[in-house]
Amino acid sequence: MESSERQLRAQMRFFHDLVRKLAADGDPYAKVLSAPDNPYPAYEAIRARGVLYHSPLNTWVTADHELANQVLRDKRFGVRMANGDKVPEFMNFDNSMLGLDPPDHTRLRRMTVPTFNPRIVERWRGRAEAICHRLIDDILAKGGRFDLMTSFAHHLPTAVIGDLVGIPEEDREQFHLLSREITPLLDGVVTYEKSVSVHAALDGMAELFGRIVEQRRADPREDMISRMLPLVDEGSLTMAELLPLCMFLPLAGTETTVNLIGNGILALLRHPEQWRMVAEDPELAQGAVNETLRYDPPVQTYRRIAHEPVELAGVTLAVDDELAIVAAGANRDPKVFPDPERFDITRSSRNDTLAFSAGIHYCLGAPLAKFEAEVAYQTLITRLPDLRQAGPVRRRGSFIIRGLQEFPLSAG
Ligand code: HEM
Repeated sequence: MESSERQLRAQMRFFHDLVRKLAADGDPYAKVLSAPDNPYPAYEAIRARGVLYHSPLNTWVTADHELANQVLRDKRFGVRMANGDKVPEFMNFDNSMLGLDPPDHTRLRRMTVPTFNPRIVERWRGRAEAICHRLIDDILAKGGRFDLMTSFAHHLPTAVIGDLVGIPEEDREQFHLLSREITPLLDGVVTYEKSVSVHAALDGMAELFGRIVEQRRADPREDMISRMLPLVDEGSLTMAELLPLCMFLPLAGTETTVNLIGNGILALLRHPEQWRMVAEDPELAQGAVNETLRYDPPVQTYRRIAHEPVELAGVTLAVDDELAIVAAGANRDPKVFPDPERFDITRSSRNDTLAFSAGIHYCLGAPLAKFEAEVAYQTLITRLPDLRQAGPVRRRGSFIIRGLQEFPLSAG
């Protein structure tokens, strides 16, 4: 075994042991990191420690909606270290837009915005509905027992993002397989074995997109890659920036939306009266999407780094201090959402959730994700009104991405 491997294994083991010990000692943030099936009591415990508390895991933590919102819009915080270095940790998305501070972030985001113009939502409606109907036809043809995640949820987001970014049809299966290998990257700290398979899949992705980029150069189309290649040629974007963007966008656009579909269908099945409300009035699917984003959001937590000393809630954060924003906890802050434990698709204060973050990193794909989930709920509920759970769900086991790995259902 190489010494770097031994060192990394030891580092990861140490971290996992520490998290386990601190969770057993009652630290609520350590409990969150141990990815329990139900993290919501731990979020309440975080809030009970005050609007901002310091975890022995050497990070500040908040589940307070007002404070979280304020930090996300505060220019004194970034996503890198104050000197511009990557945050040292095992794995993350440091080379993508999500891992960049201004001015690089501003430049890349400005170039990407046209691809996610909300007008594409309307352009896609007919096709999205057709995809969902075709999937349901297939499910019924096979007898009506199916796994929501593999037979339904992932198809629509993969097709939409594949088109927008410019992944050719014949490469989508390979892209999907590689994505599945890379998803632990979204889950924060992982085991050594996972880090090895993630890196292998990242190499595979780089190769795949390297090839697609060359194809698009020879034969430009209506997609993001074709639109961005001239920017590389004129020098305002580097290839080293374009490739991570190509890899990150499809991942950010599928792994999250898939879980918005799964989490919402689960919540609706557990609240049959609200399921029936959507069946009778499919327009209510929009409220169901918004409420799922509040009640059980696919991205539970993200973090910021102080770039200068910051006074906050009676304490001073030092330069390079880390602050974990527990968005899923803030989404249940009773000061903003009355009776926050209640799933209610008719809530009115739904636009205040932090499911898509806030400030300069506010999710670029938010309108698209909402639209996809809305179409998915509507088609499933109207075509399969008697849908029921056909076995236990299996969770993904991540403290960042909340979603289901298996969700067995029966159409009637
Ligand atoms: C339910 C689905 C989704 C959820 C819950 C979600 C959530 C988020 C969150 C929380 C952030 C910001 C994290 C932070 O502030 O540190 C983010 C950023 C981002 N999301 Fe999404 N997302 C979803 C779907 C999508 C889709 C469909 C796309 C693209 C098609 C997308 C593209 C992005 C991009 C590019 C960023 C980075 C923006 C920046 O750094 O300026 N997301 N997303």
